[in-house]
Amino acid sequence: MSDPAPTKRLFIKTNGCQMNVYDSERMADVLAPLGYAMTDTPDQADLVVLNTCHIREKATEKVYSELGKLKELKQARAAADGAVMTIAVAGCVAQAEGEEIMRRQPAVDLVVGPQAYHQLHELIARTHRARGERLAADFAPQEKFDALPQRRPGGVTAFLTVQEGCDKFCTFCVVPYTRGGEYSRAPQAIEAEARDLAAHGVREVTLLGQNVNAYSPPNDQGPNDKEGGGLAALVRRLAKIPGLDRIRYTTSHPRDMDEALIAAHGEVAELMPYLHLPVQSGSDRILKAMNRAHTAQSYLKTIAAIRAARPDIAISGDFIVGFPGERDSDFEATLALVREVGHASAFSFKYSRRPGTPAAAMPGQVAEAVKDERLARLNALLDAQARAFNESQVGRVLPVLFERKGRHPGQLIGRSPYLQAVHALAPDRMIGQIVAVRIEAAARMSLAGALVQPQLEPA
Ligand code: SAH
Ligand code: SF4
Ligand code: F3S
Repeated sequence: MSDPAPTKRLFIKTNGCQMNVYDSERMADVLAPLGYAMTDTPDQADLVVLNTCHIREKATEKVYSELGKLKELKQARAAADGAVMTIAVAGCVAQAEGEEIMRRQPAVDLVVGPQAYHQLHELIARTHRARGERLAADFAPQEKFDALPQRRPGGVTAFLTVQEGCDKFCTFCVVPYTRGGEYSRAPQAIEAEARDLAAHGVREVTLLGQNVNAYSPPNDQGPNDKEGGGLAALVRRLAKIPGLDRIRYTTSHPRDMDEALIAAHGEVAELMPYLHLPVQSGSDRILKAMNRAHTAQSYLKTIAAIRAARPDIAISGDFIVGFPGERDSDFEATLALVREVGHASAFSFKYSRRPGTPAAAMPGQVAEAVKDERLARLNALLDAQARAFNESQVGRVLPVLFERKGRHPGQLIGRSPYLQAVHALAPDRMIGQIVAVRIEAAARMSLAGALVQPQLEPA
């Protein structure tokens, strides 16, 4: 079925995690048959979708300031030429406080939660008759995935959601409330989507889930089936797809890092040597209060097992400083754990009190100034580790998947197996190829290199 000629302009602004990036792309796919084509600015858009994140207070507040600006634009356009700009709010804030959004910002036409966006086109059609539709709260991921149209990937790398939702209920986190319980898509559906991506020139896929290593589809045989069940089996299955040369996955929980998945890191060449495995804190007392269900020691044991399977693996993580009750000694334990692990990259956050979560009501809330100081100390350590990791690559030859043109003429940008951005002088035709690059210089965020001959792939 061919789409009608685009007649309407769609602008999507995405905040939050990679899953929101995936969801935004899928919303565009849902709207394309209605004649909506993407544009880069909201200025002339007929429909603006704000895909929102609820994880920290700042993220949520950002939604209201962005909506304030969109309201002005909407009014200016209506006054100038009578244009109608529809404003939709999607994502986790839409799920968590949809009614409040409609109340606080009357310019919003509709609100759609993360499990309802497959109905976006119907909602849009309806809003032109009545304002105030709100679709959220009914968590039915399967219905959504079944209803989504075919994808139209635009690049050589792509995200692919395989698991959604979370049952872990870490005491600081809103995700179980905004995304619902853990749900895993069927491997057949994932494989079909991955094959389709590969057929469109995608060479690297990142499997997404709020707890992606908890992946366990309904008819899975579990860890006893011959490929190991769960995410390990899925990775091995996707690794067989011709053209799909690189597989990554994110985000994982330490307690779901099973033996089969660790073994896959040592055995599946397509599985890239990079692992984002958030630990949050190095203090067992705090980990317990967070309901993480692991200790610092068990985390370090897991890391050791992964490194035994894949010695060069790059480890990344998330950290929270200033969780309620965190003392200096707890924070020192976090620094000690960080020193022991040695991170290639990491994300660190000040604890943010989220309404409705157990930690928000805990005694011992930490003063902002203390959080600031701890964050600065942790970041100094993590930055030094990231720099050291990047510098350790200088002089090595790495296979780089070139993704796009760089800022300077003649330059391309790609990724190393360890997810570092790498730039090098290379012809445009190498976009989409995996090319041998000798690393010549390192900065905190990226590497610079030069092509080596002969190339890994025919040019
Ligand atoms: N599902 C993933 C990540 C979810 S959110 C996991 O379990 O690892 C991404 C990160 O945001 C978390 O790892 C955590 O470090 C941070 N985060 C979540 N809630 C937070 C809060 N209330 N305050 C500060 N950081 C938070
Ligand atoms: Fe949030 Fe914890 Fe679930 Fe991650 S595992 S999404 S941090 S509740
Ligand atoms: Fe934010 Fe929702 Fe992702 S709260 S981090 S957009 S799951």
